[in-house]
Amino acid sequence: MPEPVADDPILSIASPEALVDPHAAYARLRAERPVFFYPRLHSWMFTRHADCVDVLRDTANFAADWRRVGEEMPPRAVNMLTLDPPEHTAVRRPFMAALREQPAAGLDGMVRHHTEALLTRLAGRPSFDFVADLAEPLSLATICGYLGVPEPDGGWLSGVGRVVGAGMDAGLWPERAAPVQQAQRELGTLVDGWLADPPSRGVLGAVVSHVADSGIDPMVLSNTVRGLLFSGYSSGSKLLSLLAIALFHHKAATLDGFRAADPARAIDEVVRYCSPIHAVARACVHDTRVGDTEVKAGQAVTLLLGAANRDPDRFPEPDRMLLDRHPNPHLGFGRGPKSCLGSPFSVVLIRAVLDLLAERYPDTHAVNAPEYHPNLTLRSPARFETALR
Ligand code: HEM
Repeated sequence: MPEPVADDPILSIASPEALVDPHAAYARLRAERPVFFYPRLHSWMFTRHADCVDVLRDTANFAADWRRVGEEMPPRAVNMLTLDPPEHTAVRRPFMAALREQPAAGLDGMVRHHTEALLTRLAGRPSFDFVADLAEPLSLATICGYLGVPEPDGGWLSGVGRVVGAGMDAGLWPERAAPVQQAQRELGTLVDGWLADPPSRGVLGAVVSHVADSGIDPMVLSNTVRGLLFSGYSSGSKLLSLLAIALFHHKAATLDGFRAADPARAIDEVVRYCSPIHAVARACVHDTRVGDTEVKAGQAVTLLLGAANRDPDRFPEPDRMLLDRHPNPHLGFGRGPKSCLGSPFSVVLIRAVLDLLAERYPDTHAVNAPEYHPNLTLRSPARFETALR
């Protein structure tokens, strides 16, 4: 467990209270220091929605690809997430085409089948851990079904996911960086095996047919598929767990409320309120003004999306989960040319879980308070004991 530092604006978010709920700390920052330079990360920190949107949209001046400011990147790290247009566009296009080709009814049926099977199994138990017993196995089964690949061992992937998730904070805790490389190698070996004998179905089958003559570097292809697996499994399970905590521990909304709500609006609000991705980083390529701040070429910027999603200048009553909120320009799936490719999948996943819980287990409740991993970038529940009723 890292040492929280009370007078450090970022490390104080790792205090036990702030791990449970970082939003009071974000609100203080937004009010007192909405933009500040944070020497420990050598980075500007932005908390306001408007500033985060400006940076996310401006891929000409703000790079996800740090090689544009002279940094080195190991070949295993280069993938769609780390590229910018125009290279990014060339990689994103075949993935977009493959995702669009997946029949919506097939995805929905597959996700509901897995959700139902897991819930039925868990209903016989007095209580269970929502994270390890439901959210993680469900996200694993469904992302693998979507990709069209066999499920790897859940215990192994859970361990790898923990290492990679923790490693996203390696800028703050450098000792977390080295284990990530081994985890990436293991994930890479798994994905290379899939690509050597690709499935004929699912997203991966379609991707392989689209990239056949595209000239995409095979390593970038493999790394991007690894990113899809990790995002689906890790972001998916964390989003579901945070949603369960919001409903059954904080009682921010009810299952009945979801039944009555407009589904599209309600899911947008889930993603605003519960998105696990609390920060993304970019490198400034040319001197650029963001709001009142002059960012110099070569400097880093960190966008605190968790804070931006509760910005009162953009979201009235930001700390309430209002299922009919509209408009809802949340940044839970990012924004601009690099926004999340998996959002349609995530929407189906959330809906299946909410619909089945509301239909069959409307009195589901928390048994204990949730526990959290000490991670700031990818907000990460470790355990949440729940009972289906
Ligand atoms: C379930 C919850 C999910 C959340 C909250 C989430 C959130 C995000 C966010 C915030 C970004 C933007 C990152 C940035 O700007 O640097 C992003 C990008 C991305 N996401 Fe997701 N994601 C989720 C699920 C998925 C799934 C299931 C997939 C794959 C099937 C996926 C694939 C991607 C990819 C490939 C990108 C990079 C897009 C690009 O660079 O063009 N995500 N996601």
